[in-house]
Amino acid sequence: MRRESVMRSSDAASARVAFADDAAIDRGAQILRDGGLVAFPTETVYGLGADASSSQAVAKIYQAKRRPSFNPLIAHVACLEAARREARLPSAAIKLATKFWPGPLTLVAPAAETCSVCDLARAGLDSVALRVPANRVALALIRAAGRPIAAPSANRSGHVSPVTAAHVVADLDGRVDLVLDGGRANMGLESTIVSFVGEKPAILRPGAIARAEIAAALGMELGAAPEQEAGEAPILAGGTAKSHDAPRASLRLDAAELRPGEAGLDFGGALAASDPSAVVLDLSPGGDLVEAAANVFSFLREFDARGCAAVAVAPIPRHGLGEAINDRLRRAAAPR
Ligand code: TXA
Ligand code: MG
Repeated sequence: MRRESVMRSSDAASARVAFADDAAIDRGAQILRDGGLVAFPTETVYGLGADASSSQAVAKIYQAKRRPSFNPLIAHVACLEAARREARLPSAAIKLATKFWPGPLTLVAPAAETCSVCDLARAGLDSVALRVPANRVALALIRAAGRPIAAPSANRSGHVSPVTAAHVVADLDGRVDLVLDGGRANMGLESTIVSFVGEKPAILRPGAIARAEIAAALGMELGAAPEQEAGEAPILAGGTAKSHDAPRASLRLDAAELRPGEAGLDFGGALAASDPSAVVLDLSPGGDLVEAAANVFSFLREFDARGCAAVAVAPIPRHGLGEAINDRLRRAAAPR
């Protein structure tokens, strides 16, 4: 029934919608392992999934959503054990996970040594957001892919979150390799996000599990969420976390050439020639913005690791993912 209505509302071939049976889920898992995008149902809303361990794959999420900035994304895992490989979960977090997973609860905690979620999915943070969705299709897809799946809601940036496959098609047709139709996502409200990064647990985003339920499970009141845009959690709670979000090096944007002593963050080989002895990392020698997005956070870390104090940044085009890349670099360049 539902499947037919999707087919009628758009061209089935270009939409690539499939009823989420075992064969389609296996196909979806293969697409994810190959670095593609698969939209899938969860109990809250439809997610736009990519292999969370691949920055190239995650860059495609931002591109498909036409997001003007890089938000950290939720990594979906199949069970608590998988979550514990990704994050250092304190006992209070494990208490919540045991009570609410699978379910609409997301835990933010410091990344573990063994964390596989890439820098881009974490927007360069030292923490990671994890949840185990309560949906048969989502769990089967994560298990079959054999890795965490990064997935924001499967809508265009600024549009409402989709609760049917048809909504996903309406927003993202042609930008997603497969939409798994698993019927309606019945909650329609995103997961509640609880952070264990600061001194006390805090709710970063109110959602499908009420604050009172979380507080009761923890036996304590929780910090109030700071002022925020609807549906968007603040990136960090209270600045308590040590973070690689901002590099130590100072950045000089739109540089035409390197000055003495500067390292270079290049794009399309614009800076490379000016000083052959300098450290120059090229976001994308071929000028590909998806590749550049995939590299930006790890390169900023790399400059810190190499002890570079000043970095000249080549001009980066402002269209497509260039908008989010420029936004990120502007923040990194702002005086602190
Ligand atoms: O219900 C949901 O949670 C849906 C379905 C698809 O699972 N997913 C979803 O994902 O809403 P997403 O990626 O749009 O939510 C990301 C939110 C952002 O508001 C982000 O700020 C916050 O989670 N977040 C992610 N990682 C974080 C981190 N390390 N620290 C603080 N906040 C983080
Ligand atoms: Mg969303």
